[in-house]
Amino acid sequence: MRVPIIAGNWKMNKTPEEAAVLCRELLPLLGELTDREVVLCPPFTALTAVKEAIEGTDIALGAQNVFYEDSGAYTGEVSPPMLKALGVKYVIIGHSERREYFGESDEMVNRKVKAAIAHGLRPILCVGETLEQREAGVTETLVKSQINKAFSDVSADDALNVVVAYEPIWAIGTGKTATSQEANRVIGLIRATLGEIYGGSTAEAIRIQYGGSVKPENIAELMQEPEIDGALVGGASLEAESFARIVRYDD
Ligand code: 13P
Repeated sequence: MRVPIIAGNWKMNKTPEEAAVLCRELLPLLGELTDREVVLCPPFTALTAVKEAIEGTDIALGAQNVFYEDSGAYTGEVSPPMLKALGVKYVIIGHSERREYFGESDEMVNRKVKAAIAHGLRPILCVGETLEQREAGVTETLVKSQINKAFSDVSADDALNVVVAYEPIWAIGTGKTATSQEANRVIGLIRATLGEIYGGSTAEAIRIQYGGSVKPENIAELMQEPEIDGALVGGASLEAESFARIVRYDD
């Protein structure tokens, strides 16, 4: 059984003070979480504030990016050991905004995945197509290729620690969600691709989230789909009430 995992990607939002306020509002709304995992991914500068705010709860701390070297002359970058030292458990890798605005290639994504795993961090690996790619009919080829490249030289045991997030770029921040059937179809294809690499039983154990305009109104339907194991939530994770409703989708 795959444990559902709901993660909030705060993107470039929230000072440490604002982050602490959001956590204080969120915690009482979440209640006890025994059958699902919740991850908060604030910007680097608010990781410590969130770590302190969620101390003693089951919520996990996540970061939004990581570099693939341990240390050195890489101005502005943050390494896996640095995140580990802050109590970070998950790290988003290869988000489409990083691929688009910061030139992250599939090769860099693969290096980041391997570096994160080597330091005991769990990647939340993002893949997904643009609107042009979807309309050109290359969604399947593209997503398969992103998966194959991201998992290159990653062992089956290590792959079990990766969470994949399927985020169609045209659905991010646009209010347009893929229908739950369509999200389920592409996620099924991702699982089949993982099956080609690792075999069926490993692929069946890897969790795959959907991301892109997830809201309290559409989460229940998405989570009813058999292949969808959770959500990576952007905008709606910035507000306690809406994120709590997403986490408690089956209440
Ligand atoms: P939105 O939920 O704001 O569409 O963002 C999705 C996303 O990019 C999460 O990583």
